[in-house]
Amino acid sequence: MQVLGIDIGGSGIKGAPVDLETGRLALARLKIATPQPATPQAVAAVVAELVEHFEWEGPIGSTLPTVVRKGIVHSAANIDKSWIGVDGEQLLGEATGQPVTLLNDADAAGIAEMRFGAGRDRGGVVFILTFGTGIGSGVFVDGHLHPNTELGHLEFKGMDAERYAAARVRAAEKLTYKNWGTRVNEFLQHLENIFSPDLFIIGGGVSRRMDKFEEYLVVETEVVPARLRNDAGIIGAALTARDRVHSD
Ligand code: BGC
Repeated sequence: MQVLGIDIGGSGIKGAPVDLETGRLALARLKIATPQPATPQAVAAVVAELVEHFEWEGPIGSTLPTVVRKGIVHSAANIDKSWIGVDGEQLLGEATGQPVTLLNDADAAGIAEMRFGAGRDRGGVVFILTFGTGIGSGVFVDGHLHPNTELGHLEFKGMDAERYAAARVRAAEKLTYKNWGTRVNEFLQHLENIFSPDLFIIGGGVSRRMDKFEEYLVVETEVVPARLRNDAGIIGAALTARDRVHSD
């Protein structure tokens, strides 16, 4: 079975049909720049464009970099504030004419990694952290997701943790990998002290460059890079939409 997966991020909106048996993209993905300001209507128009490109008819799973509960958007750290309170599933459903399941981007990436990637067959407490514009988190206990954890907004060093250690901060403050990797390590240590996880999976674009900073990640907990890289959100969103169809 295939489901169209869409990953809505701060800089790009990407999508592709996903083969759910293999966890691979069935066609080359298409990426369109996120419109600025990233209002609900502007983003919905891009999602409709993706659906048209793939001539897609059927269930769609989509991520959003926000808290999403029962389809409703409850936060907007790195996306236009007018998303707050919007029924995102209804909006995207109307824009595309197809049933849409919406979930947090890091939760989606985690779902994909747990099924097909670095978290496969891993029980216990697994944290996936995505480092990009912000820091996203997906928390799994024996394979079950605790959704919308938002650990990137834990207060750390007097600020939101993502303002200290997101990948964007490395570029904005021109930090070396050593300095930035040390910040990431401090954040992991903080999480370790609070939650005692069994595994950290490092996701987001930086997971490709983990060789540049893994030597600075010296926490006691095992740390591994995500395997599905930038496709994890697309794949996890598609898996979630499939599960929704089956449970209805
Ligand atoms: C948002 C999260 C999101 C993360 C990564 C944070 O600023 O609050 O919902 O998962 O960025 O995109």
